[in-house]
Amino acid sequence: MKLPDGPRTPSLLQTIRLIAQPTEFLDNCAQRYGDPFTVRVLGVNSPPVVFFSSPRAIQEIFALPAQRLDFGKATHVFRPLMGEHSVVLQQGRNHQRQRQLLMPPFHGERLRDYGQLICEITEQVIKEWAVGSTISIHQAMPEITLQIILQVVFGLEPGPRYLKLKQLLGDLLEDVTTPLYSSLFFFPPLQRDWGAWSPWGYFLRRRQQIDELIYAEIQERRAQSDSNRKDVLSLLLAARDDAGQSMTDVELRDQLVSLLLLGYETTAGALSWVFYLIHAAPQVLQSLRSELEALPSSLEPERMVQLPYLSAVCQETLRIHPIGLICVPRMVKEPVQVAGYEFEAGAILVPCIYLAHRRQKTYLNPGIFQPERFIDRKYSSYEYLPFGGGSRGCIGTAFSMYEMKLVLGTILSRFELLLADTRPVHPVRRGITLVPSGGVPMVIVRQFSKPQLTAART
Ligand code: HEM
Repeated sequence: MKLPDGPRTPSLLQTIRLIAQPTEFLDNCAQRYGDPFTVRVLGVNSPPVVFFSSPRAIQEIFALPAQRLDFGKATHVFRPLMGEHSVVLQQGRNHQRQRQLLMPPFHGERLRDYGQLICEITEQVIKEWAVGSTISIHQAMPEITLQIILQVVFGLEPGPRYLKLKQLLGDLLEDVTTPLYSSLFFFPPLQRDWGAWSPWGYFLRRRQQIDELIYAEIQERRAQSDSNRKDVLSLLLAARDDAGQSMTDVELRDQLVSLLLLGYETTAGALSWVFYLIHAAPQVLQSLRSELEALPSSLEPERMVQLPYLSAVCQETLRIHPIGLICVPRMVKEPVQVAGYEFEAGAILVPCIYLAHRRQKTYLNPGIFQPERFIDRKYSSYEYLPFGGGSRGCIGTAFSMYEMKLVLGTILSRFELLLADTRPVHPVRRGITLVPSGGVPMVIVRQFSKPQLTAART
């Protein structure tokens, strides 16, 4: 099989560069070898890993029949956290079934049920902010998005179980982003329980505590069976697949943890970028403020999410810093053709979100933060794909855009902020995401008088 060209340096070196300096490495390869290009990672006899960024090739990959591809090669790292039944680890019919059950709570009408709650949680967290003090956006955003997931997805009300779960999850998620834990997830032979003081033993015990709380919540909800509840867990408890089957407790646990792990840090990272980017671009901030100021004196989630400039700012943030650089890598099981190349079993195909978003042919001045481009033009789902696409596209696409706009809009309606450190930031790895370096400290300059929150629907 003739493969697209790519670097000839030893695979170990390519792997290290891809992990340590992912954006520089991808930029260099794209500049030198064009699109697509092949890299060698994972070991000496590693399969070729081919990166694609042209809309046409990405469209072809998304259209490939799922049975010709194996998605499990890259996702196994999630197994210890998310569990065997997680949607992320499923393939074929099981995967379709899980998606069919999981998608409805995150779409259409359902989103409107969450708007008011998202704004209220944001208000609750920021009410501690005092004019003149400095806050870290990097700490504030996960605090907001974790509470949103716990209330909207798990349907937990603030109380002892909520607080315990929030603390345990927050700590666990903080730990798993450290290099030590990340390595344990990548190398299953290191996953040994040598007692509560060993890293893996500690992880297992904490996971056990979290699971006990989640199972207790599931039991209670099954017993109550309240059809008026709108949270995702309640909807999943009531959901049935085509064969009339509902989810088991273990399936529910695994999906809840997966939604939490994929939904909380990603949105928090995107929000950190948006705060940095708009405050580093005064013109953009000014336009955004003017749009928000034109809203009536009450904060209406439904009106806020429809603001075109606010939407464009969030879209452009995810274009320039897409949080996840790539879609789930696909290993070829049966020969497939993409971009005029024939790929045999074993090759790994990677739709590269980051490079697709930096393509000169698609985006004028791709390195510049320019929300207007989303007002002036519509991009196809193969040109703009921060949430991936095809059969494994992100389940939280609509929800996280909705959440981003409401959190950003609510905070800007309450406070004027200023970057405490004007030096440019760069992307740094945090777990599966790339977030701005330095924690984005911001000074609270001014507080605006309080507009009232009004119900999303009367
Ligand atoms: C800014 C926020 C987010 C970004 C940038 C993001 C991005 C992504 C990307 C790139 C993928 C892989 C798609 C592919 O390979 O084609 C993905 C998958 C996924 N995301 Fe998100 N995501 C975000 C928020 C969320 C939220 C809020 C949830 C749920 C609460 C969520 C749940 C999932 C799930 C379950 C999958 C796996 C889907 C599957 O395997 O079928 N994500 N996300």
